[in-house]
Amino acid sequence: SSNFAVAIDGPAASGKSTVARRLAERLGLIMINTGAMYRAIAWATIENEVDAADSAAVLAMLDKLEVTCGVKDGTSTILIDGTDPGDALREDAVNSRVSTVAAIPEVRHLLVEKQREYLKLGSLVMEGRDIGSVVFPDTPYKIYIDASEEVRLARRSAEGLTDVVSKRDEEDSKRKTSPLVVAEGATVIDSSEMDIDEVVEAALATLRTQG
Ligand code: C5P
Repeated sequence: SSNFAVAIDGPAASGKSTVARRLAERLGLIMINTGAMYRAIAWATIENEVDAADSAAVLAMLDKLEVTCGVKDGTSTILIDGTDPGDALREDAVNSRVSTVAAIPEVRHLLVEKQREYLKLGSLVMEGRDIGSVVFPDTPYKIYIDASEEVRLARRSAEGLTDVVSKRDEEDSKRKTSPLVVAEGATVIDSSEMDIDEVVEAALATLRTQG
């Protein structure tokens, strides 16, 4: 099909969600947040009292659950057995487990398939860790949003959120399956010294050169 995907990757709290949302609005594309999908699985392990580090138990849980990915008002949605976890996806208990769950190859395989299916619905801005490297390696549109660790921690606390940002980044970068990397062909935007409008403009300028 002629649908295309814009891949936005980067570490935790780099501002990539905000940039991706703004790009999707500006370009009229569907916005897909893949972190929410991994978070929903982590949330389900808590609800079902499954040890996130026990991959066999996580996979047995997934066999019994229905993971439904959709789109509402131009943005991705996720239901676990029909329930939207909502704000619970951003809680500390989820933050502390999500990278463990996301390191399980079969979990990634399941979610990557669902992520690729979104392209049938229309052109996308998709944000995550492995979108340019694994989910849509052939897209010409790849941006990696970075920011210094200091800035990322400050951004999270300004949001009133505590998050294990550094720990997640280390786990996400070191895992064997689809680690966080700058994908081949991606343009890195260091947002440390930029405000959100500047990052959005830099991203739009980058996409014009990549097309
Ligand atoms: O983007 P966000 O910080 O919400 O992602 C939460 C976690 O989900 C990441 O720390 C990572 O472990 C996992 N993730 C991933 N691959 C993606 C998106 C998120 O492994 N494409």
